[in-house]
Amino acid sequence: MNKWQNLLYSQTGRCKHIFFSGKGGVGKTSMACITAFATAGKGYRTLLMTTDPAAHIGSVLERPVFDEITDVKGIPNLYTIKIDPKQAAEKYKNRILEEAKKKFDANIITGMAEELNSPCTEEMAAFLQYVDYASLDDFDVIVIDTAPTGHTLRLLELPMDWSKQLQVKAGLSTEVSEEDRAQKAKFDKMIAMMKDPAATTFAFVMYPEKTPMIEAYRASQELASFGIQTQMVIANMMIPQEQAITPFFQKRRNMQLKYIDEIRQKFSMATLVQVPLFDREIKGIETLSMASKLIFS
Ligand SMILES: Nc1ncnc2c1ncn2[C@@H]1O[C@H](COP(=O)(O)OP(=O)(O)OP(=O)(O)O)[C@@H](O)[C@H]1O
Ligand SMILES: [Mg+2]
Repeated sequence: MNKWQNLLYSQTGRCKHIFFSGKGGVGKTSMACITAFATAGKGYRTLLMTTDPAAHIGSVLERPVFDEITDVKGIPNLYTIKIDPKQAAEKYKNRILEEAKKKFDANIITGMAEELNSPCTEEMAAFLQYVDYASLDDFDVIVIDTAPTGHTLRLLELPMDWSKQLQVKAGLSTEVSEEDRAQKAKFDKMIAMMKDPAATTFAFVMYPEKTPMIEAYRASQELASFGIQTQMVIANMMIPQEQAITPFFQKRRNMQLKYIDEIRQKFSMATLVQVPLFDREIKGIETLSMASKLIFS
């Protein structure tokens, strides 16, 4: 069994969830697309999901991405979906307020509406949608392209603190509906799944440089405090050795190698993947195919 086997596929026939997280612009979307391309190419039914409102996966795949699961033309076994946190939040808010209107007077409803107008609601609603798709049992692999680091953490922190949301939801009452209970059960299942390295791979993408490395390290420690381990770290945009032939590029490559050592020490439990700087944008089937062969063969 090669090192990818455990990171990309479940060994028990269940669905494997692969999260890509990291600072803005480090290559999360590119790595998510390359990985999904690779697993689909191996014959695994793969859902590539994005919680990034900009849905850049569409421009990388050169195919439109919709709010519902859509197969990617020309790439067998690959499906995409975009979760728009704003839209999800609207639906979530309306549903909660409609329900609350049956029980509470206008003052309480106004208070709840204000409380629900927070960015937390967007994160929560986006996570809820993710939970719905992730519970489908239709896929062998689900690859999740997230928006930059902070977003992912909030996305995870909130469900961990489910009880607070329930308080908002129930207003002054302590009543918890059947629907809440069912949703909580789904949440709990999802959180357990995220904590299980056999079911989930958490990957941090970074440049082999100080700030992205430190930020990824802090975020991964925070995840660890929720019981989620980082299994894969990707050092992206490494200057290829054969290109380090001028003093400028030699110097930069040496700097990168110094940080590779530090990344190895800091993330000693994770598999380190070094991805070279390509001579082109990561975009289109040909480039995805080249990159996935290079990284995952
Ligand atoms: N190894 C690489 N070689 C060449 N270009 C790369 C490489 N990795 C990423 N890029 C390019 O860098 C840019 C940023 O990559 P990408 O969109 O994947 O980052 P991101 O982390 O998803 O950004 P955001 O935080 O904005 O979502 C893109 O134009 C992509 O084509
Ligand atoms: Mg992105």
